[in-house]
Amino acid sequence: MPALDDTTRGRLLFGGDYNPEQWPEEVWLDDVRLMKKAGVNSVTLGVFSWARIEPRPGAREFDWLDRLMDLIHGNGIGVVLATPTASPPPWMGTLHPETLPRDEDGRIVWWGSRQQFAHSSPVYRRYAAALTEDLAARYGSHPALTLWHINNEYCTYDWGDEAARAFRGWLRAKYGTLEVLNEAWGTAFWSQRYDAWDEIIPPRRAQYMRNPTQVLDFKRFTSDALLECYLAERDIVNRHSPHIPVTTNFMPLWSGQDAWQWAEHEDVVSVDIYPDPRDPWAGQDNAMIGDLTRSQARGPWLVMEQAAGPVNFRGVNHPKPRGLNRLLSLQSVARGADGVCFFQWRASRQGAEKFHSGMLGHAGEEGRVFAEVKELGAELARLAPAVAGTRVTAEVAILHDWDSWWADQQEGRVSARLDHPEVVRAWHRALWEANTPTDFAHPEHDLSRYRLVLVPHLYLLTDTAVDNLLAYVAGGGTLVCGFHTGVADHDDRVRPGGMDARLRDLFGISVLHEWWPLEAEERVDCGAFYGTLWSEELTAADDAEVVAAYRGGELDGLPALLRRDRAWYFSTLPEPAALRALLTRVAHEAGVRPPPHGLPLGVEAVRRGELLFLLNHGRDAATVPLPGHYRDLLTGAAIQDVVSLGRYGVAVLEQAS
Ligand code: GAL
Repeated sequence: MPALDDTTRGRLLFGGDYNPEQWPEEVWLDDVRLMKKAGVNSVTLGVFSWARIEPRPGAREFDWLDRLMDLIHGNGIGVVLATPTASPPPWMGTLHPETLPRDEDGRIVWWGSRQQFAHSSPVYRRYAAALTEDLAARYGSHPALTLWHINNEYCTYDWGDEAARAFRGWLRAKYGTLEVLNEAWGTAFWSQRYDAWDEIIPPRRAQYMRNPTQVLDFKRFTSDALLECYLAERDIVNRHSPHIPVTTNFMPLWSGQDAWQWAEHEDVVSVDIYPDPRDPWAGQDNAMIGDLTRSQARGPWLVMEQAAGPVNFRGVNHPKPRGLNRLLSLQSVARGADGVCFFQWRASRQGAEKFHSGMLGHAGEEGRVFAEVKELGAELARLAPAVAGTRVTAEVAILHDWDSWWADQQEGRVSARLDHPEVVRAWHRALWEANTPTDFAHPEHDLSRYRLVLVPHLYLLTDTAVDNLLAYVAGGGTLVCGFHTGVADHDDRVRPGGMDARLRDLFGISVLHEWWPLEAEERVDCGAFYGTLWSEELTAADDAEVVAAYRGGELDGLPALLRRDRAWYFSTLPEPAALRALLTRVAHEAGVRPPPHGLPLGVEAVRRGELLFLLNHGRDAATVPLPGHYRDLLTGAAIQDVVSLGRYGVAVLEQAS
């Protein structure tokens, strides 16, 4: 099977989305000249080229793309070729209105922007397949081609009739009979019982709260329907070019796709990352997405898109200060990326994204951003021989699951303040600050290689997942589980006792009486620290150790944190410093390898293969004690016992023999 190595070929990929159809051909020559100057070795073509290739139904205009593929190849640059199926041309909606998706209110999502396709429309799928077929036949053996990029950020929802029909088919395949569906959805509640398949619709706008299992199944169905679109195109390109790997670019921690499942069907896992430069936690955000994507890839992965400067989709769009683009790019490499690419090569002069940065901004080759891009290109080329293909290993895993996240997002839950990704982020942040390398895993994955497994919050756990956690602890692993976990089964049915009985037993909880969610400004005193967001009224079993207890308030004296041997339960979210200290303590007990000593706050240390990356996330210079002799691969400088990092500085250190 083709893999990322077949694309990178020993290099770190560097380049970006290239949209030459927006420019006259003379600009193309200038583009390749500047690409070479910047060390670009890869461009992504075709992402939004549908209307250019097929200006009217069935037409094919490939000449311009032929010329481009040859031009780019002739200049020694590889092509990531996209199937342009994310954005159908206006003729499609005009001729075939059923290809347009509908929102929850039944309103049509019109053309005039992008991604206006009804994923389950046979007409859309037929046109997409025909175009993919011709594209793959034409370029499948072109020497420029290094990777297929299917569609772009699959993210559409559709509540329309095409989706309704496909949803029913999906439900029939899942449940077989209406009786089983009625049971799973709990339709005895509010007179929702279905008597015929045609009565079932997507969860459209309704009078009051909707059936949560119907909503959950609709999210599962949507992810599956989009995956079908992906697989259909993947199979076509595979037929024409079995030697070329295939990817589709994920959005970071996006709720619409079960990325664990999708990643199984990709040769290369890639993601688009846009941390806000003003966010003091941009570095951690970038690290977390890197860790998640690496875990999905089970090895090296790609940043398919990031911004060299500002984006234009936030309220206020800030540029990246000098050095930040380099820092975040090298951070992704440190966390296993074998390429950092951008949206987009040349900033557009027209269209909705004309104020989104490019590697080559409106300031052109004299601009600061381009100067920094050039430096980064040179540095990546320098690092590639020692870095490409090497691995990051972690002894800790954080569990994350889309099913649980979806179930959590529903109306009528205990607290609308409970935001699944925010809780995951808080736990990851604690490890990031402690410089403890972390993978992500699905609750049903084999966890045996980890010394420590963390479950920040998984509201829904299948029986298989519960078995897996129990087996992990029985096999010698250490487990820390956050609040409101294991509450629901696969159908979002609350488990007897409010939490899986075997899990309660594992942690030493005899009764879970009530959940006590907290308001934004509320904190609960837990003795040595404060808890936020959540608290629970629990009774501990006799042999459980109460590690911290609530003080004052309704829960006075009841356990906040408890453990039974190597299984810990946190019924609240400790404030950041406390969470960091607690997880550091548990990691130490579990025998997790400690980070290098004496790192100043804000300096991140990551090992990749034999190399140590040091990354300064601060604007102030930092000094890092590091006993021994090293060589910095970025500068070639010899380092002894101490490393100096400037503002946003990075060192990539190889131990000197
Ligand atoms: C991504 C998308 C790109 C571009 C970029 C802007 O979501 O794939 O086409 O729109 O955002 O940040």
